[in-house]
Amino acid sequence: MMEKDQNKTSHAILSIENIKVQFGKRCILKDVNIQVNPGEFIGLIGPNGVGKSTLLKVILGLLAPTAGNVCIGGKTARKGNRSIGYVPQKLYLDPQIPLRGRDLVALGLDGHRWGISLHAKERKKRVDEMLEAVDASRFADSPVGLLSGGEQQRLLIAQALLTEPKLLLLDEPLSNLDIKSAYEVVQLVSRIGHEKRVAVILVAHDMNPLLGVMDRVLYLADGKAAIGTVDDVFCSDVLSKLYGYPVEVLHVNGRIMVVGGNDSGMNGFPLESNCCDSGAES
Ligand SMILES: Nc1ncnc2c1ncn2[C@@H]1O[C@H](COP(=O)(O)OP(=O)(O)OP(=O)(O)O)[C@@H](O)[C@H]1O
Ligand SMILES: [Mg+2]
Repeated sequence: MMEKDQNKTSHAILSIENIKVQFGKRCILKDVNIQVNPGEFIGLIGPNGVGKSTLLKVILGLLAPTAGNVCIGGKTARKGNRSIGYVPQKLYLDPQIPLRGRDLVALGLDGHRWGISLHAKERKKRVDEMLEAVDASRFADSPVGLLSGGEQQRLLIAQALLTEPKLLLLDEPLSNLDIKSAYEVVQLVSRIGHEKRVAVILVAHDMNPLLGVMDRVLYLADGKAAIGTVDDVFCSDVLSKLYGYPVEVLHVNGRIMVVGGNDSGMNGFPLESNCCDSGAES
């Protein structure tokens, strides 16, 4: 089995055991195993349509796995779990929307969602603290629709952290960001994860912006998973087994690129996103 689980402990905040996810006859994920420890930073990487968002939905309890178990803090995954903060993949904020940055963050406390009822003063205090934590105070009173992608991303992370979750799931938070903003968001998430002991699972196509901060990488390909350190997972034999055909792992200027091809290797095509479009120095 290719899954490697070096850090297995009974104190895991997230435990995924042998899950399988099938839609009709199509198997999206199989034999996925991972134990995530408090404060650990996991990069969830893989090509389009491989099942990254689906795996997050299973962790969130929005989708029941066809087989296997998922536990958060020792309890079976269920919808509306307050110990999970989530930033979804797609979010379009209308430039006309009459909502300030701080209002967007405050939605994380709204009663219908979490059953929390706080006094206005306490609400404001919590929102202010979180705006400060993600370095968003300076644009907190601007209309959200007018903010940049990086600024909006900070607000969404603040919103997801408002209930002090133990696990933060971020679905492609870097996809619309330039290199500098992507780097800043990664650093921010990593810092908050360490300070607050929040485990992070961050979904990305390209792991290069995460190289300096990831503790482990969970790589999905063709329904299967490999987990381990970057060096464990990003080697030709592990990824070739995962894909079921020869794959080369190239190191270019401190960045990693995965290409598929024949045994000679160099007629490849990128399987990971390439070296040019994103990634920050780390
Ligand atoms: N409810 C569903 N019913 C049937 N098929 C589904 C369902 N949800 C997702 N899928 C399919 O499962 C596959 C994995 O989808 P998923 O959204 O998890 O991919 P992803 O890795 O997040 O891709 P991307 O990088 O494009 O966001 C896709 O082919 C998708 O069409
Ligand atoms: Mg997705």
